[in-house]
Amino acid sequence: MQRGRADRIRIFRASVTKWQLKVLLTILGMSIIGVVLYVTKTIVDELAANERRTVELYARLLARYYERASDDELLYYIDQTNASIHFPVILTGRDGVPLYPFQQFMINVELDTTLSIEKQKAWLLTYIDDMRRDYPPFEIKGPDGRVIQLIFYANSAVVRELRYVPFVEITLVAAFILVGYVSFSTIRRNEESHIWVGMAKEAAHQLGTPLSSLLAWLELLRINKNSPDEVESTAEQMQQDVERLNVIANRFAKIGAMPSKHKVRVADVLERACRYFETRLPILGKRILLVRDFDDTLEANLNQELFEWVIENLIRNAVDALDRQDGVIEVRLTARPRGGIIVTVKDNGKGMTRKVASRIFQTGFTTKTRGWGLGLPLSKRIIEDYHGGRLTIVQTQPGVGTTFAVEVPAS
Ligand SMILES: Nc1ncnc2c1ncn2[C@@H]1O[C@H](COP(=O)(O)OP(=O)(O)OP(=O)(O)O)[C@@H](O)[C@H]1O
Ligand SMILES: [Mg+2]
Repeated sequence: MQRGRADRIRIFRASVTKWQLKVLLTILGMSIIGVVLYVTKTIVDELAANERRTVELYARLLARYYERASDDELLYYIDQTNASIHFPVILTGRDGVPLYPFQQFMINVELDTTLSIEKQKAWLLTYIDDMRRDYPPFEIKGPDGRVIQLIFYANSAVVRELRYVPFVEITLVAAFILVGYVSFSTIRRNEESHIWVGMAKEAAHQLGTPLSSLLAWLELLRINKNSPDEVESTAEQMQQDVERLNVIANRFAKIGAMPSKHKVRVADVLERACRYFETRLPILGKRILLVRDFDDTLEANLNQELFEWVIENLIRNAVDALDRQDGVIEVRLTARPRGGIIVTVKDNGKGMTRKVASRIFQTGFTTKTRGWGLGLPLSKRIIEDYHGGRLTIVQTQPGVGTTFAVEVPAS
């Protein structure tokens, strides 16, 4: 009961993390964009308000100057304000028409003075129209309260550019995320094909066995060609080897393809894997009892080839671990308490020390002279990534044996 719950929590967590991560990243991305937008907007607003205040001050100073034209101190302040203006300002008559000579009534406006006066004026009029669209002009009133002049202004280049910064930043972040996403999924797809490449290596390794036994059967056929019974049984054996070659060829054909899953009777898949080993055990020179205990009713959503390959690996490891005469391997199929299936492969072989057991899922880890150290890491990936399940050691003890469990939840 306790264990069942722990298992469920772990599987639940494993399947939810990827989804959670996506939500978390989206929220994080949105917050970053939000903060950037907010900060830039605050700065831009502040700068724009500052510029507006400066123009206002300038307008007031000018109005005052028109009242008392002889005030030198005022002239000094006007000059000072003038110097602190870093944005375009144009002084016009009260009708909004630029005053002549143009250069004297404007600041920071790049007027092309090589043009004719008329053209300059026309250009300025459109320029003023643009300014009016952004902000209404300030009015400079005379002592009698009548409007004498208008001051038009536009924001400085800094403010104008800053307004675009958030969009540039958002575009950059989006491009970054896109590149990241694409490269991650490419890496993932590459890893997927690595699984098949690994299997292909193993399969190539295995090709030798049925081929050499076929040669032996052929020899037997020649010897027994006059005894129909012998020929019949040899043909049956040959049939199995040919089927095996077919399975291996199929695995090669799948390299690089995205594995698909179908609902299958699990006992059938297990039976095929067991039978393959039973016929091979005499060749391996071992007397091993392969015990099955299958719940025939159980079905699961599996990629049959990959799953069979995993079971084959577990059995092969068990066979390798058996160094005694009365070796027993038990393959058991039961219903998973929370739905789905559990397959256990138990041997009474040499077992593992804690240190070995902690490393068996690392790629390339092997204690065998002719091992690749690929079987378990690939199996784990197949069970966990493709089937959303778990591959674990249930128990192992040096000199006593080992039990592995494959769990696949109901989909
Ligand atoms: N049933 C078992 N009993 C004892 N040790 C085992 C068992 N299964 C796996 N091991 C240990 O785990 C190691 C890694 O196993 P794995 O299947 O990944 O690689 P391998 O069998 O060494 O090589 P291969 O790539 O050919 O499968 C083995 O070398 C062995 O030490
Ligand atoms: Mg192995």
